[in-house]
Amino acid sequence: MNNITVSAPGKLMLLGEHAVVYGRPCLVTAVDQRMSVTIELTDQPIFELEAPEVQITNYKKQITNLGTGNIPKGAQFVELAVKNYLTSLRGAERRSNLSGIKVSTKSEFSSQFGFGSSSASTVCVIAALSKLTNQSLSNKELFDLSYKTVLDIQGKGSGFDVAAAIFGGTLHYITGGKLIEPVNIPSLPLIIGYTGVKADTVTLVNQVSDLAQKYPEIVEDIYDQILLLVEIAKVGLEKNHLEEVGQVMNINQGLLSALGVSSDKLETMIYAARNAGAYGAKLSGAGGGDCMIALAPPSKISAVKKAIEKAGGQILEVETNAEGVRIEP
Ligand code: PMV
Repeated sequence: MNNITVSAPGKLMLLGEHAVVYGRPCLVTAVDQRMSVTIELTDQPIFELEAPEVQITNYKKQITNLGTGNIPKGAQFVELAVKNYLTSLRGAERRSNLSGIKVSTKSEFSSQFGFGSSSASTVCVIAALSKLTNQSLSNKELFDLSYKTVLDIQGKGSGFDVAAAIFGGTLHYITGGKLIEPVNIPSLPLIIGYTGVKADTVTLVNQVSDLAQKYPEIVEDIYDQILLLVEIAKVGLEKNHLEEVGQVMNINQGLLSALGVSSDKLETMIYAARNAGAYGAKLSGAGGGDCMIALAPPSKISAVKKAIEKAGGQILEVETNAEGVRIEP
């Protein structure tokens, strides 16, 4: 075998963002919009990348130069994933199996949505290379190498998106993969509104960390309150008590707003959803932009979607609980 295609799902944070970076749990669900990566082994010792959706075409460099020089943003995760995977192989395996590597990525969703395209492509690259080189990585090994790659680039992050890409479903998760527990629930009737604004996760995480330095007790208390909300929501989801889940989503939103990561646009869309009859609505992910999510009774779903659109949002139709990383035929 000298080529393979692997796909992984995008994700949406349900509750617990930001606090999860500081050791509290979160709830994340995998969505049925997937990133797919095809890898071909080639004869020349060259790394090639085609990732048109992030404006990378005909990108080439010597395998020995991976990870060096000025790497365009759209190429960083794939290039570092290849580099970290090759470094993880012992010398003999590396020489016998590999010469050049050509990677092509294709996404069913825009990298602007905040669905975790970088983490999903990192996971796909490492899963694909391990198959092509006959190394059977466990999901935990795949997680550790993918998470290391994300941290090499971003410096900070809980890895919740990496876990969603690998394991799929809905997960109860603690930073670094300390807890990766499936939450056994059917697909959620989640309404997703995209703000049209790209959030910069690293900037927002740093902003919250600055706030925590200035008001440590207050921010730690907020994280602890978020932890309690996550635990209530987990039980609520398992019992299908969506009204209660909606209520704790609203409280979580208030706390995220207190952390300074909400925005006018997010608030407008969130209030529009609530006023149209949603049980609850909140931002999803780092904040600042990307998406908001809402839960509503079946009779109100259509009104909530319309209200979000009227508030300037774009409705994204996705199913939650999607399957994790897989090899495509
Ligand atoms: O911006 P996103 O969708 O990748 O979500 C970031 C969520 C944070 O909790 C703020 C950061 C993290 O790595 O968990």
